[in-house]
Amino acid sequence: MKIGIIGSGHVGLVTGACFADLGNDVICMDHDKRKIRALLRGKVPFYEPGLTELILKNCAQKRLQFTTSIKEAVHFGTIIFLCVGTPPRQDGHADLSAIENVTKAIAANLKDYRLIVEKSTVPVKTGKQLASIIRQGLRGKVPFDVASNSEFLREGQAVQDFFNPDRIVLGVNSKRAEQLLVELYQPFKAPIVLTDLESAELIKHASNSFLAMKISFINLMSQICEKVGADVTKVAEGVGADRRIGKAFFNAGIGFGGSCFPKDLLAFTRIFEKLSLPSRFLEEISRINEVQKSNFVERVRTKLGKLKGKTIGALGLSFKPDTNDMRFAPSVDILNRLKAEGAKIKAYDPRAISEAKKVLKGIQFSKDAYEACRGVDAVLILTEWREFRELDLKRIKKLLKRPVVIDGRNIYDPEVMKKHGFHYYSVGR
Ligand code: UDX
Repeated sequence: MKIGIIGSGHVGLVTGACFADLGNDVICMDHDKRKIRALLRGKVPFYEPGLTELILKNCAQKRLQFTTSIKEAVHFGTIIFLCVGTPPRQDGHADLSAIENVTKAIAANLKDYRLIVEKSTVPVKTGKQLASIIRQGLRGKVPFDVASNSEFLREGQAVQDFFNPDRIVLGVNSKRAEQLLVELYQPFKAPIVLTDLESAELIKHASNSFLAMKISFINLMSQICEKVGADVTKVAEGVGADRRIGKAFFNAGIGFGGSCFPKDLLAFTRIFEKLSLPSRFLEEISRINEVQKSNFVERVRTKLGKLKGKTIGALGLSFKPDTNDMRFAPSVDILNRLKAEGAKIKAYDPRAISEAKKVLKGIQFSKDAYEACRGVDAVLILTEWREFRELDLKRIKKLLKRPVVIDGRNIYDPEVMKKHGFHYYSVGR
């Protein structure tokens, strides 16, 4: 089938490249000329395992093209996926200006039937709004449909998640839209949840809020574990062994970040408020997440005493491993607070240093983990990159001014750390 992708970011590029790899003809559009020029040279503007290869392969086979023209994308694709960002506004509501603007531009270029599909995470009832924007912007009587098909891609595993979805959610309000999307997703084995637009839009916000709740729940458990001397990793194992609960997204740590959970939770909370529905439950998920970061800073303060004049090494900056994304990364709040109290920071991250330089000022960046440990009063683990699990602990101990390791992602075994003579602290243990 012929597909137009509007918005070539984390979601749009993965969606376009993967649909092309399944044999569809895809054109990815973005208004950022630099980004499109880079993509035409096969350069992907962010780190996502497997994506560059997929793009190069499908461009070579002429199934994937790039453009800055929305007109070209709309005339090319029968199905048009809206993948532009819906970032949080100051007041927490989702900022829909980008998706509304591209929808106006699509309407102005509609000549034949098109199915316009919300892929970006949008507040419930956005689909209705987009349909009326199109009706107002149409030149002449052109048939169209609006549908919802949210993505459940995790950064760092987005390509894998695209090809192996747990489910495909299709929110449609016409037979024609249903047939087009069922045909498009025919190569997939995953179950299709076929529903109306509003239910489909709610599924995404509800899913992300539930996953964030699981993380905040185990982080709340980590707080009582620290008070009573229990081990949250054991509690997570014991509770998660229940098939109805499951152990995924049950790792206690310094909390969730990323471009989705924080903003989706906030947007969902605002929607509840707007509908005069109780939003305290959702607010509590975010509040616990903030407390995890403050508790971690408090832990550093108590272990190091006055921070002024102390040097602290930080391993990991990205909001999670296998990505260079710094959006809402817990490391930013934590390091800024330590810096504000006079600590000097040396930080290393395998992929995110160039992104981190845009949001973390006044810290020194190291070329590797050992460099970030040299001569520091304590080293913090802020992102659980695999390479940190394999560090030479003897070498680390020699490099540290004081053998203090404060692990925000529980990647080390307390017994092993004790044997190596470290003063080792972690979350909920
Ligand atoms: C998430 C959803 O998983 C995905 O379905 C949706 O489409 C987009 O948002 P993503 O934000 O890329 O994906 O990352 P994810 O792997 O979900 O992790 C989000 C945050 O939770 C990260 O900061 C991670 O460190 C944290 N996390 C995750 C925990 O603190 N504990 C866990 O057990 C799991």
